[in-house]
Amino acid sequence: MGRTIAIANQKGGVGKTTTCINLAASLAATRRRVLLVDMDPQGNATMGSGVDKNDLPLTTCDLLLGEASVEQILQRPDGINYDVLPANSDLTAAEISLMNSSERERKLRDCLQGVRDQYDYILVDCPPSLNMLTLNGLVAAQSVMIPMQCEYYALEGLSALLNTIERVRGSVNPELKVEGLLRTMFDPRNNLANDVSGQLLVHFPQQVYRTVIPRNVRLAEAPSHGLPVITYDKTSRGALAYLALAGEILRKDQDLQAAQQANLMGAGGVV
Ligand SMILES: Nc1ncnc2c1ncn2[C@@H]1O[C@H](COP(=O)(O)OP(=O)(O)OP(=O)(O)O)[C@@H](O)[C@H]1O
Ligand SMILES: [Mg+2]
Repeated sequence: MGRTIAIANQKGGVGKTTTCINLAASLAATRRRVLLVDMDPQGNATMGSGVDKNDLPLTTCDLLLGEASVEQILQRPDGINYDVLPANSDLTAAEISLMNSSERERKLRDCLQGVRDQYDYILVDCPPSLNMLTLNGLVAAQSVMIPMQCEYYALEGLSALLNTIERVRGSVNPELKVEGLLRTMFDPRNNLANDVSGQLLVHFPQQVYRTVIPRNVRLAEAPSHGLPVITYDKTSRGALAYLALAGEILRKDQDLQAAQQANLMGAGGVV
């Protein structure tokens, strides 16, 4: 059964979409089956995955409104090693329609339920807001990855997001965890960035990824070619950083599985 990770931060421009695209490609490069779900009306993850958002018969809007199935919407562009559920500005209409619908925050979860066992990882790119679309992402997911730039206001935004995650856990999705905090666009020459990074490590030692994503121009260029950076320039620092992040996540998952298995065997021994 695939693990669904929402990539969220209500702050704009922190690297959510860049992380979603490049983590999807990096996990897929290690032969994991990956689905990317675009839940942002900006459609940046769609375009960055080589799908033209202006030429889409069906999108995640139709999915949420119950007018199309995952299989009907799915795209796999040339040169892309993961599946994409694309989005465009139509998704804004879905958000408004959902407001009047029952179980409105569970729509994405219900839609993905049937395909979860076809993937190892499902990554959901959320919009820069704590709205109904992000809420659908948080309810569909088992965990949330939070990309953040190490700057002054980052920690303030983080507590609002952690509160939201806590509320979702206390109501509709008790299994929701924080997958990890990812330091993005990091410049080690910047003193403030180093300070904020240090504070993150003090306050969230278990949750901050060891992998740091550097500021790298190749990461910014790749989307205009509709390609993940590991395809656009596999030797760039950006590509190496996202491959390292994928490695860190896979190792964590393997350790967790091993611990769970050991627990099961321990329990069996007692019985
Ligand atoms: N590590 C990086 N180095 C250089 N540029 C980056 C890096 N990460 C992201 N960018 C650039 O910064 C901008 C914002 O990144 P991105 O779109 O991934 O953020 P976002 O959080 O998804 O934004 P939004 O909140 O609008 O959805 C983009 O132009 C992207 O190409
Ligand atoms: Mg984005």
